[in-house]
Amino acid sequence: MAPGPVPLHPDVEAALSLPMIHHRTPLFDQILKKVLNNLKKVFCTEEPVYIVSGTGSAGMEACLVNILSPGDEVLCIVSGKFGERWAEMAAHFGYKVHLLTVPWGEAVEPIEVEKILTQNPQLKAVLCQACETSTAVLHPIQELGELISKCPHTLFLVDGITAVGAAPLPMDEWKIDGLVAGSQKAFMLPTGLSFVSFSKKAQLSLTDSTSPRFYLDLRKEKAANEKGETFYSSSVTLIRALDRALDIMLEKPLEEWLKKIQRRADFTSFCTFSLRLDLYSQSPTPSLTAIKVPEQVDGLKWRLRLEEKYNLTVMGGQDQLKGKILRIGHMGHITDFDLLAMAQALYYSLEDVNIELPIDAEQFWIHNNKWLEKHP
Ligand SMILES: Cc1ncc(COP(=O)(O)O)c(C=O)c1O
Repeated sequence: MAPGPVPLHPDVEAALSLPMIHHRTPLFDQILKKVLNNLKKVFCTEEPVYIVSGTGSAGMEACLVNILSPGDEVLCIVSGKFGERWAEMAAHFGYKVHLLTVPWGEAVEPIEVEKILTQNPQLKAVLCQACETSTAVLHPIQELGELISKCPHTLFLVDGITAVGAAPLPMDEWKIDGLVAGSQKAFMLPTGLSFVSFSKKAQLSLTDSTSPRFYLDLRKEKAANEKGETFYSSSVTLIRALDRALDIMLEKPLEEWLKKIQRRADFTSFCTFSLRLDLYSQSPTPSLTAIKVPEQVDGLKWRLRLEEKYNLTVMGGQDQLKGKILRIGHMGHITDFDLLAMAQALYYSLEDVNIELPIDAEQFWIHNNKWLEKHP
């Protein structure tokens, strides 16, 4: 239950083990066409969504180099590790980076962004994570989209790697100009693919960006996709598994799928509070929960104990949060049994490290079962 890579759905695993087919065949063309169409439904956009054979960071890079040019001024909202990475990447490509640093654990205040935009109408883009995975913070993307859309020359680029398919993030409705997602998160696939889409406003820059781009040049991919193909060899195995994953995600309206993930987050918060622990994030995301490690506990040891004794993979904190938080993911194939097992593992592992628990084990089990029954 890490916040990516995530447990795979059995049907996705089955799709991954199918015999290989060639990517320039009518059979694969059909799959690709369906996948590209279904990706649009998860992104909630009318615009094309491109598949990049590369992890989320490749998608972040594709999002920048296809629409920005060296010398362009960009505002990077940095509230954790992934914000830092995107800002570093932007600087690397020669964009002039303005930083808006937000304390870890907090969401950005739209008014702060508005002030910077008013003083800097020349900004070509604002870069922000939808969910900053290192802190489990969800940023106010809808509000930001609204205010950035009023600036005629500024694009809103969103790293939705742990948000697309996990939290509401309708690209067109929320006026997002560039959106990136990653396969090993809500899409329930192994690591290896990322997905990128641009608004009509951003597409105007697609042809004249002068950033260096070759493999990640989405103009080639656009032309190939229009002919029903990918430009380079397709990641057939992952795309075929993606087809299955998208069928599962879109079986019912997308909102139903998102509710399932929100329910896992709500359950995890419920358990956290039952154990008299606190959440770290002041703006919790549905994709993952960050629990503050009690002061008297060594967070690194706690995590190791969960892994080794209870067979539960969760993530710890990074950098300044090392040993201070535990991050539990809610994306992927997670059953109610997994949720109960996760809760029990938290309980007993805390007992192992001599934390006095406010509830006895049996009561905790019963409460958790009741919660799940009451919230189908
Ligand atoms: C918000 C966010 N951005 C970017 C990345 C980087 O993605 P990748 O490791 O797939 O390159 C991650 C990965 O966890 C992430 O959570």
